[in-house]
Amino acid sequence: MKPSDKGVLIVFEGIDGSGKTTQAVRIHNRLGKMNLPVVSFSEPTRGEYGKRLREIMHHGRQNITPQEEFELFLQDRKEDVQKNILPALQENRIIVMDRYYFSNMAYQGALGLEVKYIQTVNEKIAPRPDLVIILDLDVLTGIHRINTFRGEKENHFEKSAYLKKVGKIFDQMKGDYIQHVQASLPLEEVNEEIDSLVMSIIKEKHFLLNTH
Ligand code: TMP
Repeated sequence: MKPSDKGVLIVFEGIDGSGKTTQAVRIHNRLGKMNLPVVSFSEPTRGEYGKRLREIMHHGRQNITPQEEFELFLQDRKEDVQKNILPALQENRIIVMDRYYFSNMAYQGALGLEVKYIQTVNEKIAPRPDLVIILDLDVLTGIHRINTFRGEKENHFEKSAYLKKVGKIFDQMKGDYIQHVQASLPLEEVNEEIDSLVMSIIKEKHFLLNTH
């Protein structure tokens, strides 16, 4: 689906530990304080498919194939688009997403599915965002952050090898609506860069809205 001409759809993406959840929450609060009509969603969702996906995430993939895993994320997203994203855009809201179909491309692409195929299928069911901010971070730093700040101790080789593939796919994503931000920079600089990207897309989108 092409970008909506109503509302604004902003997406945060990146590998685990890159700080995207922190940034999504920070931007939500900032826009809220400006009295802008902001709403946040995250994927996987808390719906039926999202719950199954979280179970798989916690108990391991077991027999599920990459194609099945891709389809579960897709079903979850379909539900999110119909129930949450399209209605909020219709109401002219600013949506802040913590992960969207770019995660599908990177994480299930890293399992061997073709990245372009994942993108094409998703773009049939989901509106293209106005802005995607990808937080770039080296995988070992990301894993170190998770271990240090969240007290999680998953740190085996396989996981870091997989995340390296994921990171590589994120690194290669390009487009006029895709912006890469170096998450290893001092936090103040990261915040400033993100604020400026977010404010300019909001201004641009509202300008367009006002003139049509
Ligand atoms: P999070 O709670 O850090 O966002 O983690 C969700 C996990 O789900 C993360 O490891 C990435 C993964 N994921 C996919 O593999 N494919 C997808 O399409 C999405 C949205 C998330």
